[in-house]
Amino acid sequence: MADKNILVTGGAGYIGSHTVLQLLQEGFRVVAVDNLYNSSEVAIKRVAELAGDAKKNLAFERVDLRDREALDTVFASTKFDAVIHFAGLKAVGESVHKPLLYYNNNLIGTITLLEVMAAHDCKNLIFSSSATVYGWPKQVPCTEEFSPSAANVYGRTKLIIEDICRDLQKSDSDWRIILLRYFNPVGAHPSGDIGEDPRGIPNNLMPFIQQVAVGRRPALSVYGNDYNTSDGTGVRDYIHIVDLADGHIAALYKLFQDQSIGCEVYNLGTGKGTSVLEMVAAFEKASGKKIPLIMADRRSGDAEIVYASTEKAKQELNWRAKYGIEEMCRDQWNWASKNPWGYEAPESQS
Ligand code: NAD
Ligand code: UFG
Repeated sequence: MADKNILVTGGAGYIGSHTVLQLLQEGFRVVAVDNLYNSSEVAIKRVAELAGDAKKNLAFERVDLRDREALDTVFASTKFDAVIHFAGLKAVGESVHKPLLYYNNNLIGTITLLEVMAAHDCKNLIFSSSATVYGWPKQVPCTEEFSPSAANVYGRTKLIIEDICRDLQKSDSDWRIILLRYFNPVGAHPSGDIGEDPRGIPNNLMPFIQQVAVGRRPALSVYGNDYNTSDGTGVRDYIHIVDLADGHIAALYKLFQDQSIGCEVYNLGTGKGTSVLEMVAAFEKASGKKIPLIMADRRSGDAEIVYASTEKAKQELNWRAKYGIEEMCRDQWNWASKNPWGYEAPESQS
């Protein structure tokens, strides 16, 4: 079953790099493409080192998905059995200020990919969607049946791509597509050799906490402590990156084994909610570092409580998350302490 060729777009990124490693360990042959806009080629080198002998099954191409000719060349050199499509821009705040950048990159990148896939008769796809499509949910846990909505440009690109995938599959039943809605991926590979390395000021909670812990930033701003939650801070469903990567392997097997799949949506989360202050406490325990806090206003567009229903993924993908927040914080800290400046330390720090 694993004797297959998989194209991974955005393969040098946070989720992509962890998934590429697990694909190699599972025995798949992987071509990773990335334009390195938000990532470093060092991530791919580290994945190759961690993969041991399986590194012979990994190739990397620096390609922008919107460059049809370059993408076509990648497809001409290998007959792919499936594509896992991570490549996209993901900063919510930036998407609101630069909508054209986001629509151009995420939509044109995806449409070009789908056209090139069709031209090469590769019609098996796994796409990175997001829990952002649940907005401020009326109730939790969020089930896949909730009607989706978009609170910002980034979220709208996810919704539009989901719709494009559904329309495409309706038009041609040879397409078999799994849309994975991730909740909040955190943590790092237990080796501490690969992890999340955002460029610029982190938008997300865990990369920010991590940078405070290693001394790159003075304090964490807690966005709102007046929510209707146990301690007043926002609640999310944090999922260990290794579990998330594993969810992609489960989805891939589903695509290859279940011929009845048309276009299907699955949540990837743990089903458990954790507040900002609970996450800070868990990280302080794992790292032994004190995280100074500044109580700040709510961040616009943030929901109060978001966590996943995990039933559908359990039943149909035979997948469930194994790790809790202790392991997430342990592995995040291991990565942070081994790589306080991420993959590429600035000159002044090396
Ligand atoms: P990431 O930025 O680390 O990885 C995305 C990768 O795509 C980067 O390496 C970037 O350089 C590459 N890329 C972007 N545009 C490209 C293009 N036009 N051509 C080629 N490469 C391009 O982000 P991530 O956290 O690994 O997220 C992966 C996917 O999962 C994204 O689509 C994101 O929207 C989605 N997602 C992420 C989260 C999260 O919290 N991390 C949650 C839900 C969904
Ligand atoms: N938070 C802070 N301070 C920070 C950053 C975040 O208090 O510096 C809080 C937020 O207010 C929220 C929680 O921490 O309550 C989590 O925030 P994140 O930014 O880490 O995650 P979000 O749930 O807001 O959004 C993330 C991604 C989205 C994705 C969503 C669901 O940014 O792209 O998870 O997958 F859609």
